[in-house]
Amino acid sequence: MIGRRSVLKGGALAAATLAIGAGRPSFAAPAIPVVRLNNGVEMPALGFGTYSLRGDLCTESVADAIAAGYRLIDTAKVYENEQAVGAAIRKSGVDRKSLFVTSKIWVDDSGYEKGKRAFQETLDKLGLDYLDLYLIHRPRGDVAGSWRAMEELHRAGKIRAIGVSNFDQPQLASLLEGATVKPALNQVETHPFFQQEAELASLRSAGMLLEAWAPFAEGRNGLFGNPVLQAIGQKHGKSAAQVVLRWHHQRGAVVIPRSSNPAHRRENLAIFDFQLDADDVRRIAALDLDRSQFPEWT
Ligand SMILES: NC(=O)c1ccc[n+]([C@@H]2O[C@H](COP(=O)([O-])OP(=O)(O)OC[C@H]3O[C@@H](n4cnc5c(N)ncnc54)[C@H](OP(=O)(O)O)[C@@H]3O)[C@@H](O)[C@H]2O)c1
Repeated sequence: MIGRRSVLKGGALAAATLAIGAGRPSFAAPAIPVVRLNNGVEMPALGFGTYSLRGDLCTESVADAIAAGYRLIDTAKVYENEQAVGAAIRKSGVDRKSLFVTSKIWVDDSGYEKGKRAFQETLDKLGLDYLDLYLIHRPRGDVAGSWRAMEELHRAGKIRAIGVSNFDQPQLASLLEGATVKPALNQVETHPFFQQEAELASLRSAGMLLEAWAPFAEGRNGLFGNPVLQAIGQKHGKSAAQVVLRWHHQRGAVVIPRSSNPAHRRENLAIFDFQLDADDVRRIAALDLDRSQFPEWT
């Protein structure tokens, strides 16, 4: 589903001009490929996460991410930063149509009426008149009512694609029973310590994508210093972070790494100029602990 031919406007040039430090991981970032969702909408294969970024730091980080070449921005009502993300979008000067903006409906707003209201509040905070992707953040409350509202908004052209987050397979099956629109994707915790093989296979066979949240496990369990990831990185002239993002990409998952560090943001874009081989993939597969690294959130 990865479309190499398709390049999002504006990202290539800005990214291609980034410097490469001698002897350091490559920071040159070629254009970001796109994936095609099950309704034909194209989405960048890599985007920028905004969890825990607020206020000016959020606006500066998102505006700089867009300047560096990111086009997909992932926010949520519960992150309390939709206004700051909207300010960054306006600051960036990049054409709205070149961006792919995702937000999420929080548990407290579940249901048909509340869901519709929450969506409008999200649009107002962002200062936008449509969203590219809107997700049910967690499978709690009146999920069917929320989905019905999202289907209507999708049909009315206010949301280009709709999906879910943190749904397990039975929860997804139950949603599908009453749905008239199939979710485009499921955004779930996925990283080398929780690889979600079964979830990935199940979504793929049902024509949905996996979008990986916490693609670095937020650095938990020593991810960035992991000797296997570092050794693979050394072999390719890349950092452990770049190896992880490339691994997600080669599995067909969309990734949304977050960083408040401009150099990291650029480093995280530079993953489209190398390939992990079968041995690398085998070694990363062996890191799977097959359990969440965020037990406090489940
Ligand atoms: N749907 C859900 O329930 C859900 C849940 C969680 C997250 N999300 C989404 O997924 C996005 C990503 O997940 P996340 O923010 O939790 O965590 P993450 O992207 O896995 O990790 C972020 C951490 O990695 C560090 N980092 C980033 N790039 C790095 C690099 N190249 N080298 C070293 N360190 C690096 C960042 O530090 P620096 O700032 O210092 O770079 C930050 O501490 C979120 O921002 C949010 O949009 C969704």
